[in-house]
Amino acid sequence: MIDTYVSPPFRITRLSHIALQVRDLEASLEFYQRLAGLILSHRDGGTACLRAVEETSHHSLILTQGDEPSCDVVGFRVLEDSDLDAAEAYFAGLDIATVWRDRPGQGRILGVTLPSGILIELTARMDRLPRLLTEYSARKGGGALRLDHCQVIVPDVEATGATFLNMGFRAAEVIEQGDTGRRVGMFLHRKNNPHDIVLSMAAGPRLHHFAFITPDLQSMFRACDIAGEMGIGNEVERGPGRHGPGNSAFVYFRDPDGHRIELILPPMQIMDPDEPPKVWSNADKHMVVPWGGPASQRWREEATLFTGVPLSTDGDLARWVADSK
Ligand SMILES: [Fe+2]
Repeated sequence: MIDTYVSPPFRITRLSHIALQVRDLEASLEFYQRLAGLILSHRDGGTACLRAVEETSHHSLILTQGDEPSCDVVGFRVLEDSDLDAAEAYFAGLDIATVWRDRPGQGRILGVTLPSGILIELTARMDRLPRLLTEYSARKGGGALRLDHCQVIVPDVEATGATFLNMGFRAAEVIEQGDTGRRVGMFLHRKNNPHDIVLSMAAGPRLHHFAFITPDLQSMFRACDIAGEMGIGNEVERGPGRHGPGNSAFVYFRDPDGHRIELILPPMQIMDPDEPPKVWSNADKHMVVPWGGPASQRWREEATLFTGVPLSTDGDLARWVADSK
């Protein structure tokens, strides 16, 4: 049984931002602004910072012009600056190296390479910008409201999950192999909904996708229609559809570099700390995938490498999916 009462060694509050390397910044900006509806907060040469219309933090997505598509970092917010110092001491105690870095629009930043190779950074503060929720003409494309979660694929979900549990994450949902009981998926959160980070089993570490919340199905369909209008209708990769875990209504798109963005409807809340994780079996296909066709092979296999982190030799390239029986 996974303990959902945790005393975190430092206080992460939520997923904060994703930083990506892209090959053509102009093309990426058009995609994220026109299709997803993100707002440009800051641009400095080859780097652009974007946020969604509900967000007042400086950015939730950073795009940097580079030679190869990759994910520089998955960023989490902590409660106060003192939590950054506590985090530095925590990782030092585990012999895990940390680095202080600077970035426009953010306060102090502590970068960490987790044992799984996942690159994370922690920050307590960001510059504040206006919330554009009531500026209705600012809403474009899918009308993304706020960043919700990311999914990272790793060969050993149990071990990587333990890393996050030890950092104070709570498990909302767990997916196990029906025959072996091996953990193939974990939904981990700090902000009391199903997920800040989801772990799924495959060769890794790789960023499978990151997800923004969109207000309604109409906005989701509008993003699909705009993909068609932009001539990238075939990059509507999966959905709209429904996941059993999280009860998420989803649609996935691939950006010009193949990075995968998901739009989801507002997720349920995990209200109480004594709520145990819901355990799913991947053999219960009708529960895990209640309706719709199977995921395409490219949705299963293709994902974004972390910058400078090699792909493990463990695990299949294709992400696990529910048995098709
Ligand atoms: Fe997701």
